[in-house]
Amino acid sequence: MTAMSEQRIEPARGLVGTARLPGDKSISHRLAILGALAEGTTEIINYSSAADCRSTLECLRALGVAVETTESPDGRLTVRITGRGLGGLAEPEAELQAGNSGSTMRMLAGALVAHLFEAVLAGDESLSRRPMRRVVEPLRLMGAEIAARDGEFPPLRINGTAEIHSIEYALPVASAQVKTAVLLAGLHATGETTVDEPARTRDHTEIALTQFGADLRRERRRVTLVGRPRLRGRAFQVPNDLSAAAFFLAAGLLLPETNLVLPQVGLNPTRAALLDFLLPQGAAVKLLELTEVDGELRGDLHVRGGAALAGGEVNGALTAQLIDELPALAVLGTQTAKGIQIRDAAELRVKESDRLGAIAENLRRLGAAVREYPDGLDIAGGQRLRGAEVDSFGDHRTAMAMAVAGLVAEGTTTIQNAECVEVSFPGFFEVLSVLRE
Ligand code: S3P
Repeated sequence: MTAMSEQRIEPARGLVGTARLPGDKSISHRLAILGALAEGTTEIINYSSAADCRSTLECLRALGVAVETTESPDGRLTVRITGRGLGGLAEPEAELQAGNSGSTMRMLAGALVAHLFEAVLAGDESLSRRPMRRVVEPLRLMGAEIAARDGEFPPLRINGTAEIHSIEYALPVASAQVKTAVLLAGLHATGETTVDEPARTRDHTEIALTQFGADLRRERRRVTLVGRPRLRGRAFQVPNDLSAAAFFLAAGLLLPETNLVLPQVGLNPTRAALLDFLLPQGAAVKLLELTEVDGELRGDLHVRGGAALAGGEVNGALTAQLIDELPALAVLGTQTAKGIQIRDAAELRVKESDRLGAIAENLRRLGAAVREYPDGLDIAGGQRLRGAEVDSFGDHRTAMAMAVAGLVAEGTTTIQNAECVEVSFPGFFEVLSVLRE
């Protein structure tokens, strides 16, 4: 067991200062992959330091892409990618390792189907249990030769073909990763590829494609891409990751002495539902300096703590928009007046862990009453949490949500297997220790 794998969290009175946050993970994956498929050089400033985003870069290198990274003295990454042009990736010598990253595997699957070689995409133990039929099916409809273990699980084996054709596809599950896989395959097809979503999901791929010069139309939950565009490399600045900031936002709101700045976080409307949910409940969050950079909104969030929060229901389309923030919100719910009732969140059972089960189990260990449903949780409000031993279940967002719980609990909370925070937020516990009062 490494020294990092266990973290002890003591109660705090507030979070004070400016949080150091990683670049947005979702945007980083997309810019790296599109940069590889573009012509010319793409420079990505504030590329996420997350292990998941490093996995994407490693896979691209294995596909013959020249990727240079430089780190600034404050740990910010700049990535420079020499694009190989559409269809220009090179045959890898070994299996491509996506690590823990579902985004890397699903998105690259879409990019690879039209490259004329065989590629195998593999993942770690957690990723090897996650569903892949959702990308296999639409890609096959586009003519791809792609197979998953038992039809569902990684590794994915892809035999690239020149026969990829455009489709009109209605996603059965709301998933930005699947939407992205179809659009990336659609880049290589003649004609127009259309994706319809059952609920609106993050639209970073659509924004990035437009920035790279693709021709793309959008009407509400429908996106149409004209195939075989000329993608041109360029420079991008990535905002900080709101889903990473969400843990400090949740903890900060609950602690009375908080005076916290979450700088330059991405506020794309398809990602910012957390604020839409919390602000009407009485959360003291001010948004300053809203700007748009490279098609993505960003701004500074100023958070004050201690205001009473009402709590409420998260269901339907809101669940899809808040999917990565639900672990933090579940913990926050214990401290609200009405608690939080989460529904339509069966997808959380097939994330890096079964997040509904993991959160319910951990909150119970901390003494909270939680009801679990196949697609959600009922978390009563006004509950006292008592420090105990909890487990990340190998899942970064579960580990960070338990740190929020530990800050508001009485006594010491010990998080086992906490090193997995590296997957999305390297240095999370160090940042927390700087901010805590
Ligand atoms: C992501 C989409 C979501 C999210 C994941 C990142 C993305 O997954 O949970 O952390 O970058 O597109 P799904 O597409 O599976 O909903």
